[in-house]
Amino acid sequence: MKEKLEKIRQEALAKIAETSALDKLNDIRVAYLGKKGELTEVLKGMKDVAAEERPKVGQLVNDTRNIIEEKLEEMKSKLAAAAREKQLREEVIDVTLPAKKNNVGHRHPNSIALEEVQRIFVGMGYEVVEGPEVEYDYYNFEALNIPADHPAKDEQDTFYINDKMLLRSQTSPVQVREMEKGKLPIRMIAPGRVFRADEVDATHSPSFHQIEGLVIDKNITFADLKGTLARFAQELFGENTKVKFRPHHFPFTEPSAEVDVSCFKCGGTGCRMCKGSGWIEILGCGMVHPNVLKMSGIDPEEYSGFAFGMGLERIALLKYEIDDMRLLYENDTRFLKQF
Ligand code: DAH
Repeated sequence: MKEKLEKIRQEALAKIAETSALDKLNDIRVAYLGKKGELTEVLKGMKDVAAEERPKVGQLVNDTRNIIEEKLEEMKSKLAAAAREKQLREEVIDVTLPAKKNNVGHRHPNSIALEEVQRIFVGMGYEVVEGPEVEYDYYNFEALNIPADHPAKDEQDTFYINDKMLLRSQTSPVQVREMEKGKLPIRMIAPGRVFRADEVDATHSPSFHQIEGLVIDKNITFADLKGTLARFAQELFGENTKVKFRPHHFPFTEPSAEVDVSCFKCGGTGCRMCKGSGWIEILGCGMVHPNVLKMSGIDPEEYSGFAFGMGLERIALLKYEIDDMRLLYENDTRFLKQF
């Protein structure tokens, strides 16, 4: 019995000593100390041991159990410590490495310009409204005093969806939609995307943005239009900016004008920016045509108003001195990050 125990002890300790994996230790524990383990088997043989020998043998079995137990624990902490050390070694962080760059997005020049224009008009009490991009021919043309056979319909090469619907070629239909609501007075700007069948080049794109403006109230005159747009130009391009109203024609306004601002680059003496003229065209405007008021259910004898429309890209290109519109659509972050 004694020899048997000694053999078990030696065998167990040898196995423990050569283990290099934590889970193998448990197998050893089961094999020697478990319910069906070798020591338990020995205990079963106790009945054959002489009564006076039993305490001694019992003690020996306990000692063997204890020493195996002890060695198992010892090995367990040793292996655990080694595993932890290995992990620490492998996961070491070099704190001197440069940090990963955080790529922050950037506001688009169009957005910056739009926010600026909105800020100016909201400051003058205007509301910002929107209209649909897919529009009825009626709102885009007819209700704006552009009848079916009007040459202005050709000027704006329009994408048609069917005979009645199209992609709006201008933001002016939002004027009609606002007037139809019947809530007067109106002071609104309507920014949005518009579409025209144009080839892409430095100044054209099949899709771009406009900002429409409309004021309807009693006793609105051309003087209000001039004062409003002069103030707007000064806020956008600088206090010394002058405005010039050139007679023009739009079907939905009468009289109509195109507005030039004095060149903010050279102050009007002539430079590359203004192509030597000292003036830069920024928008179209006029007094809302009585036909347009009537079609929207407003009595032109009682109310009058003015409207204006400008290209957002044009404002952004001018303000940030960008010479090719295509740059605004490529979304190259190296370009965008400059604004
Ligand atoms: N809708 C015109 C265009 O796309 C721009 C415009 C001109 C709008 C005069 C207006 C206006 O409201 O009064 O060319």
